[in-house]
Amino acid sequence: MDNFMNMTKDAGHTPELQRLTDLHAVFHDALNGKLILAPLNLEEPGKRILEAGTADGLWLRNVRSSLPSAASHQYFGSDIEAELFPAQPDGITYFQRSFNDPWPVNLKNTMDLVHLRGSLAGSSPNRPHDVIENLTTLVRPGGWVQLQEMNAFSTPENGPAMTDFARMVREAWTGIKVGDFANELKDMLEQAGLQNVQERRVLIEIGKTAKPEMRASSVNGVTSPIKPLSSIAKTVPSSFTEDQLDNMQARVREELENEGGKIEIIIAYGQRAQG
Ligand SMILES: C[S@@+](CC[C@H](N)C(=O)[O-])C[C@H]1O[C@@H](n2cnc3c(N)ncnc32)[C@H](O)[C@@H]1O
Repeated sequence: MDNFMNMTKDAGHTPELQRLTDLHAVFHDALNGKLILAPLNLEEPGKRILEAGTADGLWLRNVRSSLPSAASHQYFGSDIEAELFPAQPDGITYFQRSFNDPWPVNLKNTMDLVHLRGSLAGSSPNRPHDVIENLTTLVRPGGWVQLQEMNAFSTPENGPAMTDFARMVREAWTGIKVGDFANELKDMLEQAGLQNVQERRVLIEIGKTAKPEMRASSVNGVTSPIKPLSSIAKTVPSSFTEDQLDNMQARVREELENEGGKIEIIIAYGQRAQG
């Protein structure tokens, strides 16, 4: 995973943040604007909401702007990479922290919602299961944890390039020992002791088969991380040659632009028992 982080850092953070913005727009559209599936009552003011692996806090900012201004909640964003935080925190508390490490004692048992999206591969060399257990320590009794990841292990039917891309990601995740965490989100929340655990799966069209306003952003959101992911694939046992890994991004982009494709996202959420 260090390879991924170093490559996006070397490229400057702007392309990575643009990709996250594009992907966020695609998820937002696919979920009809409903970014929080966990059934907490956000009309009641004073909730505490934390996103781990927040990057520039786009999810937090969008959640806040989607709520009536009278619903004043407290927002916290943490990331291992503090350079990603916005220059102006604009009322959100950002702090640097790996989600592999124990959380500050003053935050434990205080959150109404803890959110993590697209970041669980960063558990390596720890297990995603340990990260989720650690996240639950932030939640107060009755509070929720919501997780979202892309399914790379039982993927929708796609063209040859997207099928190869999924195989490359499977090999990378297996190689860095995080495994099939997306399909295991629900089980891991239950194993961490959460109740009322629910899962939702959403298929999303990418590129040519997406609605026109989502075509370019969906292609950029899906293809931009392929180069850093290929660099991880080069460090683990792989069924691809170096050339095939180098060409992956261009092949997938061409296929998505000319034929289209699909991804599946998995969202799972669970509640800490009332005290
Ligand atoms: C794909 S981005 C997702 C960002 C954001 N959650 C979103 O959905 O737009 C993954 C984020 O996880 C962060 N990350 C990776 N490993 C981490 C770790 N061990 N602890 C905290 N953050 C981590 C990265 O720095 C990056 O900002």
